Amino acid sequence: MTSALNIVVGVTGGIAAYKAVGVVRLLVRAGHRVQVIATEHALNFVGAPTWEAISRQPLATDLYTDVSEVRHVALGQRADLVIIAPATANTLAKLAAGIADDLLGNTVLATRAPVLVAPAMHTEMWQNPATVANVATLRERGIHIVGPESGQLTGTDSGPGRMSEPEDIVDAGLGLVPDAAGDLRGRRILITAGGTREPLDPVRYLGNRSSGKQGIALATAAHLRGADVELITASIDETLPNHVPSHGVQTAAELQRAVHTSLPAADIVIMAAAVADYRPVQVSETKIKKEERGDTLTLELEKNPDILAGLVPLARPEQIIVGFAAETSRDREHLLELGRAKLARKGCDFLCLNAVGWNDGFGADRNTVIILDATGTIVGEASGSKREVADAILTAITAG
Ligand code: C5P
Repeated sequence: MTSALNIVVGVTGGIAAYKAVGVVRLLVRAGHRVQVIATEHALNFVGAPTWEAISRQPLATDLYTDVSEVRHVALGQRADLVIIAPATANTLAKLAAGIADDLLGNTVLATRAPVLVAPAMHTEMWQNPATVANVATLRERGIHIVGPESGQLTGTDSGPGRMSEPEDIVDAGLGLVPDAAGDLRGRRILITAGGTREPLDPVRYLGNRSSGKQGIALATAAHLRGADVELITASIDETLPNHVPSHGVQTAAELQRAVHTSLPAADIVIMAAAVADYRPVQVSETKIKKEERGDTLTLELEKNPDILAGLVPLARPEQIIVGFAAETSRDREHLLELGRAKLARKGCDFLCLNAVGWNDGFGADRNTVIILDATGTIVGEASGSKREVADAILTAITAG
């Protein structure tokens, strides 16, 4: 789907080097040409034969091999993307200072391609003011950082410092180089993600358990396939893709205004956000006090506008409007029945139907979706990671 890129993967001296093998493997599997540059320290963790076998290329390590090819600049000049995973505290410091005492340092200085860095280190080192300042310097210069995540580190300790997972690093990296030949190039796609929150008072709200992961996955997948994506996020705690323009809203009313503003410029609107059906009639200016309210509290709610149903009559005939339906039915036929009834009520062009429960759908990393067209016919089905599901949805709604 994506055209083949020249990608440099720089590996530096941390235990997470073993996870970088997964990064190289995913990139090669996706059809890209990967040149691994390992620092001397990196080879203490994963040796040259592994890198060469996985990347199907000779490893590049030092400045003084193949000097006639001027490799210290050639690798950077040729690259469409540079990923450094893992990046140690030492590497971050060297990159921030522009030090070029090895092949990787030279390559980063010589490249005009986007550079993505995946830090990995102990929490103390990540939080050290020197590292914090180095990361800030790199960000200011337009170098992209993915992670680190919080979790188990080498040894018994855990905390922020664990390198992001290979899939996330690959997504973040490829997201910096949208596919100029992708099947969605030129398509403008507006995506809503997350769950709206309706305030009750300055500190409380009515909300839902939508994490926004499926909407984010749609935005990333569409961007990678060359689309021009705009993401409207409702209360998302997840890291947003830094390659997609996004802005945040809180309530259904704010979401409706944002969607109406962006509708005219969109070819496709995907309403993945979980919108609160009701909002409190009154929002208290001050914190609601139990001492003043007694043993029970009754909330009066009023209906929010149905944003999706309201978009359909506003849309131009060529615009594609896609809704989501999260239903708690376990029975496929019943699920389809609910979906078809919803399609009829909303009048949208496609409906992505998924079963949710206490432990499924919302917040999970995987999803299962049935895609119906306006007539209620099944035009796609997918079960897998939210990225896989996103690709299936995009394919189904743009086919034909
Ligand atoms: O009616 P229901 O909430 O099940 O419909 C879900 C679909 O409708 C989603 O695409 C959601 O974004 C959209 N929706 C909306 N406005 C509402 C409620 C849902 O646009 N008030």
